[in-house]
Amino acid sequence: MKRLILFGAPGSGKGTMGDFIQRDFNFLKISTGDILRNAVQQDSAAGRQAKSFVESGGLVPDELVIELVRRRLSRGDLDGGYVMDGYPRTLAQAEALSLIASASEKAIFIEVTEAEAVERLLSRLTCSACGAIYNLISKPPKNTGTCDLCRGRVERRTDDNEEAIRQRFRVYAECTMPVIEYYGRKNLLARVDGGGTAALVYEKIKGLIA
Ligand code: AP5
Repeated sequence: MKRLILFGAPGSGKGTMGDFIQRDFNFLKISTGDILRNAVQQDSAAGRQAKSFVESGGLVPDELVIELVRRRLSRGDLDGGYVMDGYPRTLAQAEALSLIASASEKAIFIEVTEAEAVERLLSRLTCSACGAIYNLISKPPKNTGTCDLCRGRVERRTDDNEEAIRQRFRVYAECTMPVIEYYGRKNLLARVDGGGTAALVYEKIKGLIA
């Protein structure tokens, strides 16, 4: 298997599990959320196009995201395999992915209740420099406000507010659930109970990769 796709609601733990997989397997994590947030931070042309969608919890238009993914996948550093966090999110993106890069693939759907996911999002902190993921309750940084890994500033994401979170859940149900069903129909999908500690969830995921 060369490509692993992580699916799940906002706050289900895709980014966290993607980081663990990148650390332990020879896989690179590709997060479209991180790519888009970096573009916004750098005020690039793509970032200016994406900004209002990212901040309000809407989906960035397919053409732009597909182009960013195409550029990322053509860099030539993914021979060891890669794990995708946050892509594909629409059927058009799923179809584009198979055209951009055909690869043996698996998908894992991390299932959590909406209540649990919202609680996690409202206590999440993220490093503005390297994207490392923290949580005020379950994984606080060792020094308040500072990233353990790169000493960057750790802060709340601009879309981790109640209104944008509600919108992200709406978009997830409407646009991304059909993509998850599509991978299910292709017999490529495994489901994992995403409740419990991150370590416990990761043990289950590891069993599906190895
Ligand atoms: P994106 O960054 O992908 O956001 P998301 O899908 O809403 O997912 P999150 O990053 O919020 O959650 P996660 O599942 O990664 O959870 P995490 O591991 O951080 O996208 C953001 C925006 O970019 C989108 O709204 C859209 O605008 C745009 N975008 C991105 N991709 C796009 C695409 N393909 N097409 C169009 N637009 C796109 O964990 C959450 C918290 O919980 C953390 O604090 C973590 O420490 C904690 N945690 C994790 N696991 C556990 C556990 N088991 N127990 C307790 N706490 C846990």
